[in-house]
Amino acid sequence: MGSQGEKLICVVGATGNQGGSVARRFLAAGFRVRGLTRNPTSPRAQELVSRGAEVVQANLDDPASLDRAFAGANVIFSVTDYWEPFFHPECRKQAEAKGISYRRFAYETEYRHGKNIADAAAKVVDSLDVNGFLVSTLSHAGKCSGGKFKELYHFDSKADVFPAYVEEHYPELAAKMSCIHTGFFYTSFNILPNSYFGKLPDGRVEMAFATDPTKVVPQLAPVDDMGSFTYAVWQMPPGKSYMAAGTNCTWPETIETWSKITGIPASYRQVSPEEMIAACGEPQLGGEITDMFLYTSHPGYDGGMKLLQAEDIRKAGIDCPMTTWEEWARKQDWVAILARLHGNSQ
Ligand SMILES: NC(=O)c1ccc[n+]([C@@H]2O[C@H](COP(=O)([O-])OP(=O)(O)OC[C@H]3O[C@@H](n4cnc5c(N)ncnc54)[C@H](OP(=O)(O)O)[C@@H]3O)[C@@H](O)[C@H]2O)c1
Repeated sequence: MGSQGEKLICVVGATGNQGGSVARRFLAAGFRVRGLTRNPTSPRAQELVSRGAEVVQANLDDPASLDRAFAGANVIFSVTDYWEPFFHPECRKQAEAKGISYRRFAYETEYRHGKNIADAAAKVVDSLDVNGFLVSTLSHAGKCSGGKFKELYHFDSKADVFPAYVEEHYPELAAKMSCIHTGFFYTSFNILPNSYFGKLPDGRVEMAFATDPTKVVPQLAPVDDMGSFTYAVWQMPPGKSYMAAGTNCTWPETIETWSKITGIPASYRQVSPEEMIAACGEPQLGGEITDMFLYTSHPGYDGGMKLLQAEDIRKAGIDCPMTTWEEWARKQDWVAILARLHGNSQ
């Protein structure tokens, strides 16, 4: 693609993993990039400015700030975060005061943020490109499992807005939307070190999830690849749904590749939901996470939806480079990572 100098992309979450990757890729493509952040003076925001982006103050809880931030947008990239309201002590206090679980509280917060993004995007629908509303989302666990998973909140809080709310309230915006589901992040071992790389007494490493060992799982390098994938999606016709993934393989294959790279003997063990919940350290985190790993067995992380992947985009003649788990894992300093995760030197 040539320079897109006149086009403006507004990037939600521009200081984060996904949005940061998108901002850098669209800058490289010659777009004007406007990154949204609550704190424009933060080091991450300033880093974006040094790369040539404009950074504006906006809060997903403040609709007027989104109206200002999206003014003149040709493309909007949307991402919402379930985990900050889940973990934040102030949010936990508010959840308690409302008499709801903090799993539920984080659902309500993420849903509201998504809805505010959609409401503001709908106001600038005329200036958006034909495929100008690119949204990061996940499958609807409640609907895709036929009601079996009623509390996989960090999936449903995304899917209830992208696409459900947008399609119901803003058909014109929905017609310009692409839904980008994201695979398990390669970096998620940081959140679940015991389950990803549990250290056994004999020095071996064990990956221990509640997922069926034969189930193929989509996985993604969010910082490296979300930008490339989103840029490729922008070049496709609108109205389609995707899975951003650099690797599709089972968990036993994932740990086998890791073992080959590190030289550390390692294996996969499917554990009971109870064991996985306990390994997460706190019941609500354990419940949310374990539901995800069970849902990943059936109907599948993608909910059994037919989602386009990088190879489908390439078939359409559009460049869509992605990083495999093996390529990504080879670049990491596993000695340092394991020392950090296991709390000692290896
Ligand atoms: N870990 C996984 O394996 C995985 C897999 C698939 C999907 N996901 C999903 O990925 C999402 C998180 O994405 P990420 O990793 O890119 O996020 P991240 O790196 O944690 O960054 C969050 C971004 O959201 C912005 N933000 C948060 N609250 C905001 C608010 N009230 N107003 C304005 N901006 C706000 C932050 O900006 P400022 O702080 O600068 O304001 C930051 O840029 C989660 O919802 C998670 O469910 C994770």
